[in-house]
Amino acid sequence: MNDKTVIVTGGARGIGRAVVQAFAEAGADVVIADLRFEDANDTAVKISGTSGRRVVAVQTDVTKREDIEKLRDETLRMFTKIDVLINCAGWDRLLPFLKTTPDLWQKVLSINFLGVVNMCHVILPHMVERKQGAVVNISSDTGLVGSFGEAIYASSKAAIMAFSKTIAREHARDNIRVNVVSPGLCDTPLIDEMRADELTAKILGSIVNFIPLKRLGRPDEISPLVVFLASDAASYITGQVYSINGGLNMVG
Ligand SMILES: NC(=O)c1ccc[n+]([C@@H]2O[C@H](COP(=O)([O-])OP(=O)(O)OC[C@H]3O[C@@H](n4cnc5c(N)ncnc54)[C@H](O)[C@@H]3O)[C@@H](O)[C@H]2O)c1
Repeated sequence: MNDKTVIVTGGARGIGRAVVQAFAEAGADVVIADLRFEDANDTAVKISGTSGRRVVAVQTDVTKREDIEKLRDETLRMFTKIDVLINCAGWDRLLPFLKTTPDLWQKVLSINFLGVVNMCHVILPHMVERKQGAVVNISSDTGLVGSFGEAIYASSKAAIMAFSKTIAREHARDNIRVNVVSPGLCDTPLIDEMRADELTAKILGSIVNFIPLKRLGRPDEISPLVVFLASDAASYITGQVYSINGGLNMVG
């Protein structure tokens, strides 16, 4: 990834943070696009210090088009090009479907699905112009198999898969590859926050028994595949979905 420029949404913490670190260690410069500016900046300073690469934070809400346009312009000003886009920003809460409200549906779909759509709509034209680029979208196995208490979240993640396959077809002619990484259950701040709810803690606690590898994943077990898919080593791979889930689902 030497001297590639990578944008990682949701890179302040969790899986996104591990992805930022893996790209920087592989020689890339990274722009962290996250709502949480302080966390993003802290991550950027630390990873830049250990990797020796330029890692910067640009406060971005992926649901806001004007933020993403600013992110694109800032990135081009600093690095002149965008080689790779990783869409990792996401949000979730467990609640049985009939207890959910349209406000919650709106929030989940806006961040998880339309966030990815917004990012691609603003960044892809630059890649098309250069006839070069790679996109990796972070989905979830809930989008493949469904998940109790996550009707709309799972739907948003399934939508990411269909969207990614479609733009992979549309932009193969532009030498742009689009793939999906689909984690199972991974130990991150998001999961910690979700555990604050009693029912959620119970459900998450019981799922571990069904994971063949008998534990949650770590963010640094997701990031290597993301970097591989964005690299030239994956030059013949596009429109694919890869699960990383300790064996919880075996749907491929
Ligand atoms: N942790 C898991 O078990 C798991 C499983 C499957 C998929 N995923 C997916 O992986 C991705 C990362 O999840 P995580 O567990 O690391 O979560 P996390 O909450 O620890 O990190 C998510 C990051 O996204 C950022 N973010 C949220 N909304 C945003 C917005 N509107 N604009 C910009 N940034 C925003 C947050 O500030 C945070 O830094 C998400 O897409 C999530 O759906 C996670």
